[in-house]
Amino acid sequence: MPNIGYVNGRFLPLEEARVSVEDRGFQFGDGVYEVIRVYGGKPFRLKEHLSRLERSAQAIAVPVPLSPGEWEAKVDEAIRLSGFPDGKVYIQLTRGAAPRDHQFPASPDPTLVMTVREMPPVDSRMMAEGVTAMTLPDLRWGRCDIKSLNLLPNVLAKQQAKESGAFEAIFVRDGLVTEGTSSNVMLGCEGVLLTPALGDNLLAGVTRQEVLDLAREEGIPMEERSVTLGELKAADELFLVGTTIEILPVTQLDGKPVADGKPGPMAIGLASRFKALVG
Ligand code: PDD
Repeated sequence: MPNIGYVNGRFLPLEEARVSVEDRGFQFGDGVYEVIRVYGGKPFRLKEHLSRLERSAQAIAVPVPLSPGEWEAKVDEAIRLSGFPDGKVYIQLTRGAAPRDHQFPASPDPTLVMTVREMPPVDSRMMAEGVTAMTLPDLRWGRCDIKSLNLLPNVLAKQQAKESGAFEAIFVRDGLVTEGTSSNVMLGCEGVLLTPALGDNLLAGVTRQEVLDLAREEGIPMEERSVTLGELKAADELFLVGTTIEILPVTQLDGKPVADGKPGPMAIGLASRFKALVG
């Protein structure tokens, strides 16, 4: 079964997929993207991902080349061609190729790239034991609600986490928690699920919304509001949520155990609800 590439209307083996060196995604990071999980051959929450892609593209004035129905058909076709029951679809939409000049080209011709790769389930040991995280200053720009290709601060923070033996870096801006380098952050505090409120400083995660919906169904009280670094450090439990990690407990933060150093009941309960949903 092959990894699949798609470039501007053509499906081909991933190794053969190419874009121009003058593509503005390559030159400037001038574009947006999405990552969608495939479970049992079906894309998970495709509509939600596509509508966020459309919002991101509109926010940076990149023309969207496909209608919602066309997007869905293309994603379905890519998954079918790959044959992977469990995989991830990556979509990247850029302002297209043009001679390098900061201003927009007069008539932009967007580049649409899609890839489908196999993806094994999240490591069950990480789920059972939890992962470590570290906090780092959020050095990103002021529109982190846009899923932009500009990921340099995320890349550098994730690498710093790795070199410190941590799985994820959690960004903190002006004393407030924003999100992880590629995940949203949730806390359990005295039975209440706390997560930073949506705004310009974090991505409206599809998994975040899914987990909040599951928590509501479970009758777990929740608050979406500003979360301070102090609250993060004093949490009864801490977990990360995102497309590639689902729901992952954090059992050590900045070298100290989170509460008793074991995954908390909220994360365990919600992760098993989530597994049932996608299983
Ligand atoms: N990232 N916050 C950031 C900064 C992210 O990059 C992501 C996902 C999330 C979680 O969003 P969602 O639940 O919609 O995946 C939050 C993807 C997976 C990535 O960049 O690979």
